[in-house]
Amino acid sequence: MDRSRNGRTTPTRSGATPTEGRAKQRAYLIAALDEGDDLSELRELLSTAGVAVVGQAVQHRDKPHPNTYLGPGKLLEVKDAAKAADANVIVVDDELSPRQERNLEKELGMSVVDRTATILDIFASHANTAEGKLQVELAQLEYNLARMRGLWTHLERLGGVSSGGFATRGPGESQIETDRRLARDRIAALRRRLEQVKGTRAVQRAERERARLPQVAIAGYTNAGKSTLLNAMTGADVGVRDRLFHTLDPTTRQLQIDGRPYLLTDTVGFIRKLPHQLVDAFGATLEETRLADLILHVVDASADEDELREMQHSVEQTLEEIGAGDRPRLLVLNKVDALDDERRQELWLQHPDGIQVSALTGEGLEQLNEAVEEAFARTLQRVELLLPYSEGGRLAELHDVAGDLRREDTAEGVHVFANVPAATAERFARFAV
Ligand code: GTP
Repeated sequence: MDRSRNGRTTPTRSGATPTEGRAKQRAYLIAALDEGDDLSELRELLSTAGVAVVGQAVQHRDKPHPNTYLGPGKLLEVKDAAKAADANVIVVDDELSPRQERNLEKELGMSVVDRTATILDIFASHANTAEGKLQVELAQLEYNLARMRGLWTHLERLGGVSSGGFATRGPGESQIETDRRLARDRIAALRRRLEQVKGTRAVQRAERERARLPQVAIAGYTNAGKSTLLNAMTGADVGVRDRLFHTLDPTTRQLQIDGRPYLLTDTVGFIRKLPHQLVDAFGATLEETRLADLILHVVDASADEDELREMQHSVEQTLEEIGAGDRPRLLVLNKVDALDDERRQELWLQHPDGIQVSALTGEGLEQLNEAVEEAFARTLQRVELLLPYSEGGRLAELHDVAGDLRREDTAEGVHVFANVPAATAERFARFAV
């Protein structure tokens, strides 16, 4: 994260580089919590952004202070502690109002970055597809529009203004008016481009729907092992790193169980207090989840029970929020290779419906496949068809969706017995025997 000329702290793509030496970002964390002092997630986020954490302070209060986030006494304490720890940036575990941010910077004499800016920064560096990039850029601009200071750095990076920055100011226009106008123009342009990209995605989805393959989405807290599981189940090679939010764009692969194909989609990692700009921004991958026939909810079972439940709960809450609360789902307890027998037993008692797997070693994947198959078996229909030899293409199509089928060649055509999804049964109804 860099401090821009205009005073606002703006996240950079990769955080600090090691060569910056003492200039490297050294963050002091602050939080207003009603209880506890757990800032482990924020620490994890910052380590993903390449920022060192040099200390933290938590104030217990019902609500953050409306003007300064923390109370005045605590602020003085933070100011001294941050200085003593040689911090050069304060990171806040919540989204700040522009006023809180300004006041905090003034009181503490240091740049202040909030949780949303931190997450936006990480999302920006991890978005891979054109759509993902456009969405992050839009989310960043919308966030900045509410905090007009420092927009320059952003627009420069986006090529929206000349490197001099001031060259595009119209006569009689104040700096802030220029900023707002540029931001709004850019936002409108981004929205138009996103519409186009979305159109393409809708076409792709329509194609998949024509194939009518059952859709399975992998959802879960960030770092639960979703990408690793997708790889293990399909043999695909999706990037896996022990970093938060490695996956930001939906990745779909085909999965075969007993000869029957399924489409398996990896989704964005969920997180507590996901900034609302991002819920909108990641509509793409969230949409895949909402439209899935089955959701595999992956949890990191190597976490302790309290943490596990908290992560599980926040994913369930997000699923509700995005309208996927009613989709059938399976609980997948991943990373059991890291557990001893006692903990596995305990896990089994606490989550009797959970399927224990290790995406890393492959343990339990067979049971998981069976559970997926079983979840769909309930929705399959038994059909008996007679396909004329002239309909060879349809037979191939049936093979594609039905996996194993029994066929007998007769004088009139091919006599087929198969279990197929309801939609397929309907399409082949006119060949029913
Ligand atoms: P996001 O993209 O952040 O949402 O992460 P993700 O859920 O896709 O997790 P990913 O597959 O990237 O895995 C995160 C880390 O967990 C990596 O270091 C993996 O090697 C590790 N991991 C995944 N599955 C297992 C497992 O079964 N056992 C162990 N021990 N580690 C695992």
